[in-house]
Amino acid sequence: MIRSILSTVAGQPWLRKAIVSTPGIRDIAWQFVAGEDLDAGVAAVKQLNANAMKGTLNFIGTHIREKAEAISAAEANIAALERMGQEGLDCNLSVKLTQIGLDIDESMCRHLLRRILDSAEKLGNFVCIDMEESPYVEKTLAIFEDMLQLYGPATVGIVLQSYLRQRRGDLRRLLDAGASIRLVKGGYWETSEIVYRRKSQVEQVFREDLELLLTRGWRPAIATHDAGFLFYSQKLSAEAGIAPDSFELQLLYGVRTDLQKRLIQEGFNVRCYVPYGGNWYAYTLGCIRRIPEGILRRINESCRRVPF
Ligand code: FDA
Repeated sequence: MIRSILSTVAGQPWLRKAIVSTPGIRDIAWQFVAGEDLDAGVAAVKQLNANAMKGTLNFIGTHIREKAEAISAAEANIAALERMGQEGLDCNLSVKLTQIGLDIDESMCRHLLRRILDSAEKLGNFVCIDMEESPYVEKTLAIFEDMLQLYGPATVGIVLQSYLRQRRGDLRRLLDAGASIRLVKGGYWETSEIVYRRKSQVEQVFREDLELLLTRGWRPAIATHDAGFLFYSQKLSAEAGIAPDSFELQLLYGVRTDLQKRLIQEGFNVRCYVPYGGNWYAYTLGCIRRIPEGILRRINESCRRVPF
């Protein structure tokens, strides 16, 4: 029910405007998004740090079509890096290349990315380039590999999606190049020609990649909420003599917080990806579509108990 209302509204700009200012909807959104501005993102990361968790700030936004918007998104990312430094946060940054103009002009996108990476390098921080839909993979990797040459793996890293059928060689190539990699199953709807879609197939390739990354990667990160894989990473690292603090287990803000706490208690390095910004609607909808209806109903009920 909640899911279908939000999906219908997504296609109706006038309705959407009304809905995004509705307190109940905003309360559901704030389970998955820190808030509408950088202050909210910083506050969420402070809370995570106080609970022994690291953060990754992400200023929400993709597929920017206007040059001025791409520039302002790059500036917002730089402001986030500066603020992390000022506040002494244990936090890095994630950025999507279509937010900084990949759809408009690749050379502008590279220029804006370099401005962000210059800032990260100066501040001794790290930027991970998120991976987007399959048509962007080739370009994103080409840009990343150039940036890796220029800045090195302590400043820039990349996300690899295991579900891509035709890109099984990327992980080994980037491991050989010494890249810092965040491994995910893959989060976009794609056709079965492009990605493995059967759960068992996705799990099979993710397992293979996880084993390779964990045993060979430099500061590897396994990003999943799948308890089976989180515990498998623990088991594998113990068997291979890999120290728990030499790799990261990454989860999204507000998702499986029970697991996040448990992993921390067991001494693992947990990093939480914290989205913030005015474009929270589509991101929240993506999260809501992924959670089972029963859990969604409980979230909705607990939000309604909060006075507003
Ligand atoms: P699975 O899909 O089996 O999920 C396990 C359970 O977790 C589900 O049953 C569901 O309840 C819950 N869950 C998972 N995702 C949820 C969500 N978003 N909201 C609410 N509940 C959720 N993908 C990509 O293509 N490019 C990228 O750059 C990134 N970056 C990224 C960073 C981090 C830190 C994480 C954790 C994930 C990503 N992803 C991503 C997303 C990833 O590809 C994948 O789609 C999701 O993590 C879901 O897959 P799981 O491995 O969690 O397992």
